Amino acid sequence: MTFNPLEERGIPLDRQLRDWRELDVTPIDPDHADPYTRCRIITMNGIEIEAIMFNRHLARHCPDLEDRQQLAETRFIEAQQQKAVNWLLPGLASVLETTLAYEQVATDLTAWVARMEPDPYLKQAYQFGLLEDFDHLYRYANLFEMIEHRKAEKIVDALTEVMPGRPTKMHQRHPIDNVREPYDRNTAAPISKLHALTIMSAEQQTMNFYMNVGPMYMEPIARQLYQEIGLIEEEHVTHYESLVDPGETWWEQLVNHEYNECYLYYSFMETESDPKVKAIWELHLNMELEHLRIAAEMMRRHDGRDPQEILAPRLPAPVTFEQNKGYIREVLATQIDYTTLGTGYVQEAHERFQRWQAQIHGDQEPASERVIDENRAKSGREYRLESEGAHPMYSLRPH
Ligand SMILES: [Fe+2]
Ligand SMILES: [Fe+2]
Ligand SMILES: [Fe+2]
Ligand SMILES: [Fe+2]
Repeated sequence: MTFNPLEERGIPLDRQLRDWRELDVTPIDPDHADPYTRCRIITMNGIEIEAIMFNRHLARHCPDLEDRQQLAETRFIEAQQQKAVNWLLPGLASVLETTLAYEQVATDLTAWVARMEPDPYLKQAYQFGLLEDFDHLYRYANLFEMIEHRKAEKIVDALTEVMPGRPTKMHQRHPIDNVREPYDRNTAAPISKLHALTIMSAEQQTMNFYMNVGPMYMEPIARQLYQEIGLIEEEHVTHYESLVDPGETWWEQLVNHEYNECYLYYSFMETESDPKVKAIWELHLNMELEHLRIAAEMMRRHDGRDPQEILAPRLPAPVTFEQNKGYIREVLATQIDYTTLGTGYVQEAHERFQRWQAQIHGDQEPASERVIDENRAKSGREYRLESEGAHPMYSLRPH
C-alpha cells in the first residue's frame, strides 16, 4: 500500500459544510446489516467524539485568537461528521442491543489491535483489556435474554462467541493499578501510536455511553449492572490513555488525531460491505486529509518541527473487523487470572487488590454474578454462544 495521507489532497475546508438534507443519512437496516458495519459505525462515532473533545481542550489552552478560530472551524466539521456517522444507527435498537454491539466492538477491535501490535508491553495491555470486555458481552447477553427475552446471537450474529472471560467482579482494581507506562514518542512505531488512540477513543465512548444510558432501565438488576460495568470502563480508559506519551506536544497530538482519523476512514473504506456506508467513509476520508494538512501546518508553526518526523511514510495495513475466536480462546487459556500491580501484571491477588475488592463489593455478590444466576433460574440455563466447542477453561464451563 502506498497511500500517504500527507501527500494526498482532500476537500478544502470551506467546501466541507453539509446542509440538513446531506446530513440526513439513511440508517442501516436493523435486521439485515452486517454486524461489522455496525461495529465500524460505533468505532467511528467514538473517534469523532474524541476528535471534538480533544480539539475543545486544545482550544481552551490557546491564547491566540486565530488558532482558536481555526480550531473552531475544523471542530464544527468534526461535529457534523459525528452526526452523519452515529445517525447511521437505526432508531429501533434498544439500549441493550446497542450495548451488546459496543462490547462486540471492544472485543473484536481490541483483539485485532492486540494481534497487530508490535510492542510487547502494549500488546499485553490490549490482551489484558480484551478478556474483560469479552466478559462484559457475556454478562449483558444474559441480561438481554432475561429482560428483553431475546438472544445476543441476533446482534453479534455468531461472529463473536459469548462466554465467560475474566469474571467481571475481578475487574475492580485500585485506581493506582490501572495506570500503565506510556510508549516513548521518539522510538515508538507509528502504528503503536495509532492503536493507542483508537482503543482509548473507543473505550472512552463506551464509558460515556454507559454513564448516560445506565439509568434508562427500570429493572434494578439492569441499573446495577450498568453501574458496575460503567465503572470498569472508567478503569479501561485510564488503562489505555496512560499508554500515550504525555510528552507529546498538543500540536503533535492534534496531528496524531487527524492522521488516525485518515487511517481509520481509509481502513473502513477498504473493508466496508455496505456501499452507502462506504461512500460516507470515503467522503470523510477526503475531509480528514484536509484536517491533517491544517494540523500539520499548525504543528510546523508552533513547534518548529515537521510532522513527517513523527508519522509513518505511508498508511499501515487497514484495521479490519473480522472473527478473532481462535485468538481470544488462546488468550483466555493463558491470561484469565491476570491482574495488575503498579504498571505491570501479576497472577496473584495481591493485598491492595484484595482490599479494594472487599471495599467495593461489601458483603454481597455484584450484579454481574447475580445476572447469571437469575437468568439461569428464569431461562433454565445461562446464555452462551460457544460456536467453537467447550470453554477453554474447565472451571468456566457451565455447572
Ligand atoms: Fe473527523
Ligand atoms: Fe466493556
Ligand atoms: Fe472496556
Ligand atoms: Fe478530523
